[in-house]
Amino acid sequence: MRVMVTGGAGYIGSVVTEALCDRGDSVVVYDSLITGHRAAVDERAQFVQGDIRDPALRDVLRDAGIEAVVHMAAISLVGDSVAMPDRYFQNNVVGGLALLDAARMSGVKTIVFSSTAAVYGAPERQPIDEHSPTAPGNPYGATKLAIEHALVGYAAAFGLSSVRLRYFNAAGASLRFGEDHRPESHLIPRLLRVACGEEPEAVVFGTDWPTADGTAIRDYIHVLDLADAHLRALDASILTSGVSVCYNLGCGGSGYSVGQVLESVIRTTGVEIPVKALPRRAGDPAVLIASSEAIRGALGWIPKRQNLDRIVADAWEWKQRFPRGYAA
Ligand SMILES: NC(=O)c1ccc[n+]([C@@H]2O[C@H](COP(=O)([O-])OP(=O)(O)OC[C@H]3O[C@@H](n4cnc5c(N)ncnc54)[C@H](O)[C@@H]3O)[C@@H](O)[C@H]2O)c1
Repeated sequence: MRVMVTGGAGYIGSVVTEALCDRGDSVVVYDSLITGHRAAVDERAQFVQGDIRDPALRDVLRDAGIEAVVHMAAISLVGDSVAMPDRYFQNNVVGGLALLDAARMSGVKTIVFSSTAAVYGAPERQPIDEHSPTAPGNPYGATKLAIEHALVGYAAAFGLSSVRLRYFNAAGASLRFGEDHRPESHLIPRLLRVACGEEPEAVVFGTDWPTADGTAIRDYIHVLDLADAHLRALDASILTSGVSVCYNLGCGGSGYSVGQVLESVIRTTGVEIPVKALPRRAGDPAVLIASSEAIRGALGWIPKRQNLDRIVADAWEWKQRFPRGYAA
């Protein structure tokens, strides 16, 4: 298949691109490098540096004969989105709509879109399935939901199929590609930075949640399992016309608390991690766990690496192989 990965120089995009190249697909990575890294692009893929709002995107799609787009390009820091909603709507919504239009004008058949658990806000009922009401609690989640709504409309009106994948917390690494966000807001890489002495202590928001150890519970999904879901979504959706579906992507079960993640990092690295406990952050829910029954049933997707120690071990392995991340 001829696939474009927007945001393919980012964390998840680099691993999805690698998986597509491994199975022999022809891949164009299109990325502005606003948060991504040139060195994170698999050398088997063609790299084009550009913004999704750039009109030249249409020519790139057409010239490469792209059949399907994995649309991951976005900025995604929740706190920043609250402070700078204009920037988030510009990049993620204006940019997303530009991409959708370029795709439909260029004969693209399907789009697999990186959505997020943030579209649900803080639902009371867990695990969260795709019928849970959407109520994003911040502009970042709202920008993702806006593009989801556009995709539903574009499927019905223009026949452009799509799969909207609502990821919970991506974590782990492949052997070659891993997580190097600057700044880093995700728990596991932050704890690994402390283990390496790059940060003095780990900050935990809230130790008085109504959970067994008092810390918040989240659903972690290995980035290689995420990549597998994208391949399955592409293969299924390329065969359809005018169909837009959405699936949650998490491991389900009972999730893992911040305290359990901390213990796993200490076990894996053999390093004691100093912790600074801060009050809960406004808007953070106690528990966020996905039901991924829908994608398991429809696409036969089964996460193979849901064990937390495995996820942490893979992230640690990558950190040791690339201590400075993608810095030259
Ligand atoms: N990491 C997670 O746990 C998680 C969870 C839910 C959803 N998501 C979504 O998955 C996607 C990938 O996440 P990630 O963690 O790999 O993020 P990332 O920041 O590592 O990658 C995003 C990539 O998109 C590029 N980009 C951003 N705006 C662009 C634009 N206007 N034009 C071209 N390129 C642009 C960046 O340069 C970067 O390479 C994002 O859309 C994010 O919102 C991530």
